[in-house]
Amino acid sequence: MSFDRTVKIAPSILSADFADFGREIQAIEAQGADWVHVDVMDGHFVPNVTFGPQLCKAIRPHIKTVMDVHLMIAPVDPYIDAFAEAGADFITAHVEAGPHIHRTVQAIRASGAKAGVALNPGTPAESVSHLLDMVDLVCVMTVNPGFGGQKFIDMTDKVRRLRQMIGDRPVHIEIDGGVDPTTAPLVAGAGADVLVAGSAVFRGGSVADPAPYGANIAAIRSAVEGAA
Ligand code: DX5
Ligand code: ZN
Repeated sequence: MSFDRTVKIAPSILSADFADFGREIQAIEAQGADWVHVDVMDGHFVPNVTFGPQLCKAIRPHIKTVMDVHLMIAPVDPYIDAFAEAGADFITAHVEAGPHIHRTVQAIRASGAKAGVALNPGTPAESVSHLLDMVDLVCVMTVNPGFGGQKFIDMTDKVRRLRQMIGDRPVHIEIDGGVDPTTAPLVAGAGADVLVAGSAVFRGGSVADPAPYGANIAAIRSAVEGAA
């Protein structure tokens, strides 16, 4: 797959019906999702627990697009191979999750997955400056991770700075947290190309009535395109 910096919408299944992930994924993809974002939380690095590699493996056959696994866990390294074997296309680890993010990125690449690094709101863009030649994605958190439905924290300056630092490298900038039709144009205009959205995609819809998912995805996309 060639590198593509056009805007991609990545619904987070954190806002899906946890009893029905397979059909929820089919519904969001049918309604226009570009990637599927999978939030793994351990109750230690973040104050919430979601699911692990076995769940990822179980939902993998339902994902026809891209499985984007966001690890909010510490330590990370002992679990990388399990998530790669579960079929993750991208595995993203937090720079704050341990002292050896360089080693973690090497291990993700060695597992065969594409490597991402995520930055909490309090972490500067410069923390990834020595990793940009070895990653495929930088995730800028626009909430403190742990829960869906939080208020967007403006990180536009950080995104702009990262976009400059990345230059021509084939590295995606992903935004995660509080993305909706109002906030999406800010970060897309600053250079982000992957927009994770949980509550703003899933609100108002269901597996039985998935059309609102499509309308919500289209609203984010057209807000970005209208601002371009
Ligand atoms: C936050 C997660 C996000 C979250 C986004 O810890 O990493 O992916 O689900 O949810 P919304 O779009 O509702 O802020
Ligand atoms: Zn996430």
